[in-house]
Amino acid sequence: MLAVIQKTGNRLFRVVEGVADRFFGPRLNPFYQLGGLAFFFFWIVAGSGLYLYIYFRTSATEAYQSVEYLTREQWYLGGVMRSLHRYASDAMVLTVVLHLLREFCRDRFSGVRWFSWVSGVFLLWLMYASGIGGYWLVWDQLAQFVAVLTSEWLDQLPIFSAAMARNFLNEAHLSDRFFSLLSFLHIGIPLVLLLGMWIHIQRISQPRSNPVNGLAWRTLLAMLVLSLLKPAVSMAPANLDKVVTQVDLDWFYLAFYPLMDHWSYSAMWLLAGGATLVMLFLPLLHRQKRSKVAEVELVNCNGCERCFVDCPYGAVTMQLRSDGLPYEKEAVVDADQCVACGICVGACPTATPFRRRGAHLAGIELADYSIGELREQIISVSAKLQGKARIIVFTCDHGGDAEPLQAADTAVVKLPCIGFLPPSFIDFILSRKYAEGVFLTGCSAGNCYHRFGIDWTQQRLLNQRDPGLRQRVSRELIDCYWDGSGHSRPLKMELLDFHAHLKEMAEHEHVRDIRAIDGPGRDETRSER
Ligand code: HEM
Ligand code: SF4
Ligand code: SF4
Repeated sequence: MLAVIQKTGNRLFRVVEGVADRFFGPRLNPFYQLGGLAFFFFWIVAGSGLYLYIYFRTSATEAYQSVEYLTREQWYLGGVMRSLHRYASDAMVLTVVLHLLREFCRDRFSGVRWFSWVSGVFLLWLMYASGIGGYWLVWDQLAQFVAVLTSEWLDQLPIFSAAMARNFLNEAHLSDRFFSLLSFLHIGIPLVLLLGMWIHIQRISQPRSNPVNGLAWRTLLAMLVLSLLKPAVSMAPANLDKVVTQVDLDWFYLAFYPLMDHWSYSAMWLLAGGATLVMLFLPLLHRQKRSKVAEVELVNCNGCERCFVDCPYGAVTMQLRSDGLPYEKEAVVDADQCVACGICVGACPTATPFRRRGAHLAGIELADYSIGELREQIISVSAKLQGKARIIVFTCDHGGDAEPLQAADTAVVKLPCIGFLPPSFIDFILSRKYAEGVFLTGCSAGNCYHRFGIDWTQQRLLNQRDPGLRQRVSRELIDCYWDGSGHSRPLKMELLDFHAHLKEMAEHEHVRDIRAIDGPGRDETRSER
């Protein structure tokens, strides 16, 4: 059942993300930066909130007027700030809920990710508590509706010595002191939320807690335009002596309130508590089959730290050398943190297929899939290839299905993550003529399942990251296609295109070879090449 929901959701996300890719491009695609966007909205809410607080009166009798002043008299700044505060809070809910659904559908919530998931569940409560508390402060009819229902709901729990709802019985019962307390809670809870957000990303290395600049500015601009075109306004002032019969709900924060109005409070607690418990235990209910984790082969480790820097999960630490070899440090893998993506193997300078003596072993290896096995696999698939433009396609466990690309002149090798492939293996394939071209594919750009597999691979190919691809390797013979949307047609078209390009190159090479053999400068021409 869980698997069906995940699969359907994942397919849906892929379609929507594909459309967004075409619209924004992978770099600015908001679906790939939902966590970072949630942070960004938090900062907008915090900044605009600070401004509002300068003018806000923390008493039940003056609060409404102070907000009205900002909205009407100071519409050009205070009004804009109020609208930004409202819309950024709504956008935060939207991005967080999408972020949650996406991590769930992409199967990124169990195993070592349990910490991010479980801390995320607490963030949900804190985020709603922060936002709903904000609605009370305006002290209009919506605030009254929310305050009465929430306090009656909270009174179901034996946490307060006196019933909280008593404060909202009628106008005479609402004291300024209680209202001031609510205002301070509206600052305190978001601060705890911020602390929770910080804890949430502690187990992730290099967390993307900011959206890229282009997306951030566009989002802020869109919020400003919306704030000017449709400013946030209050309803009529609250009056506890009258019952509120109609409200304009904010569906992002208050979607559960109509239900609360109709169901019993106990039923609402059952729903909220039950959903929270299910979410908290979801990582336990859904245990993934774990591949064997990475292991350090100390004799081949020179302590260069590349695996430590490149591991997307902070699973590698550098510790003092323990084997007497003349290096200062050695890599150590924390098995509880490792997801066996193999990105560290791609980062290790000793992961080379060219070694003449001894076994092909890198400083760090996946127990299930060594670089020696990868080397053997390349040699074995190459032996079956035919034609003048033979291609080896490398794909990953999480991208689109590349198996159908297999043909007489095309072999497909599946890796745990594309970042597993050390660049020296591309050099090996092309220089030893195991194929005429190498084609890399996997997840979508900016959306690598293992976070940095695509980024690190691209940087290694461009020699912007160690270990880089040697200069002698012609980049013309390598093609990368990052689109994990699952649509096989564009992938096939790209491969056909690359195939035609390789064929054309082979033709030119053939003509040049003939000229070189016929002409006087034979040796010179060859060496020039
Ligand atoms: C205030 C709300 C939240 C914020 C600001 C936030 C932010 C983030 C950020 C910045 C990352 C790192 C993304 C990356 O660098 O790849 C992340 C990862 C993650 N978040 Fe959240 N998050 C929030 C709520 C949630 C919730 C409600 C859940 C689910 C219950 C959740 C589940 C996860 C998981 C599982 C990861 C790990 C992804 C991975 O390891 O690839 N988050 N979050
Ligand atoms: S990348 Fe390889 S050589 Fe460098 S520290 Fe890690 S295991 Fe050792
Ligand atoms: S396999 Fe992946 S998670 Fe494990 S140590 Fe290597 S890079 Fe880190």
